[in-house]
Amino acid sequence: MTTDTNFKITEASSSRIDNVDLNKPGFGLEFADHMLEMEYRDEKWQQPEIKPYGSIEVTPALNVLHYAQSVFEGTKAYHVDENTINLFRVEKNYERMVRSCERMCIPKVDREVFLEGIKELIKLDHKWVPQNNRNSLYIRPFACAFDPIISARVAEKYRFYIITSPVGSYYDRPVKLTTTQQYVRAVKGGVGAAKTAGNYASSFYPAQQAKKQGFDQVLWLDAEEHKYVEEVGTMNIFFVIDGVLVTPDLRGTILPGVTRDSVIQLAKHWDMPVEERRISIDEVMQAGKDGRLDEVFGAGTAAVVAPVEEVHHDGQSVTFDIDGRGPVGEKFYDAITDIQYGQAEDPFGWITPVDVS
Ligand code: COI
Repeated sequence: MTTDTNFKITEASSSRIDNVDLNKPGFGLEFADHMLEMEYRDEKWQQPEIKPYGSIEVTPALNVLHYAQSVFEGTKAYHVDENTINLFRVEKNYERMVRSCERMCIPKVDREVFLEGIKELIKLDHKWVPQNNRNSLYIRPFACAFDPIISARVAEKYRFYIITSPVGSYYDRPVKLTTTQQYVRAVKGGVGAAKTAGNYASSFYPAQQAKKQGFDQVLWLDAEEHKYVEEVGTMNIFFVIDGVLVTPDLRGTILPGVTRDSVIQLAKHWDMPVEERRISIDEVMQAGKDGRLDEVFGAGTAAVVAPVEEVHHDGQSVTFDIDGRGPVGEKFYDAITDIQYGQAEDPFGWITPVDVS
């Protein structure tokens, strides 16, 4: 497969940046001036194009709209100073996207196009990277089927896009989680580990039911026994039990989060006891009852490190009287964001600085 990484670039004639409040951007509401677009046809990816952000025209028969053969990624760009924007572990997003593509039968995008495409967009739209309040520019690469055909089969045409959006916190307050015995997110042999559209679509109804009961999200349990904690869907989950950091191990049903991996690496670096293992919801609730559950937090690119205020299961709740992150979550949040914004050493080589001078 040959891929031409020689981007064709068409710059926007004017910028929309003055219409956006980068100090209060919300999440995924506004999009920067440029996007990357690349077509797959005749069995190869064509020349990638960077052009003004805008609508795309599609036929109602477009197969991705019907069968969701699509994958996406999420990473962020962080303002360091007027000449430097940092990217964080973006190679890991590329590798995950390749695995998602394989699972969803989508031809893999070339590494150079993915990584250089992000850098080119950041250079063009660096003014869209917020400077304050730990806001950032969210980067959303995605690839999807693009055949104008409603037969249910692997597509022959695809599109790859990268769009970017200034964002603030995904959750602006501690979250309340509930388990459900009725619904599941992912099954063994399914697509739980892939970042693919259907995983999110199928979680909306149970999340809507949870919201009606006053919760923010579902804390998913395994599909076989409805017993072991998996993840939240919008983020991975961590428990601090008697000072030990515990998170479900990856068994093919959980998204291998980049922030999850960063939290685990940091914990090991600090000699903090960390266990990646099966953890039953009964163990969590019992630790809560015994006063041994110090903290619960989620971790994800969008969520960063998000404190959990309540875990509800089978009519019982463990609650935390908090209005922000607990001390352990805060330590991870500070360490990760300090590295991201270039305010701390990067002993792990996680940062790729982009020179935007
Ligand atoms: C991310 O954290 O990047 C995600 O894709 C989660 C999504 C719910 C915004």
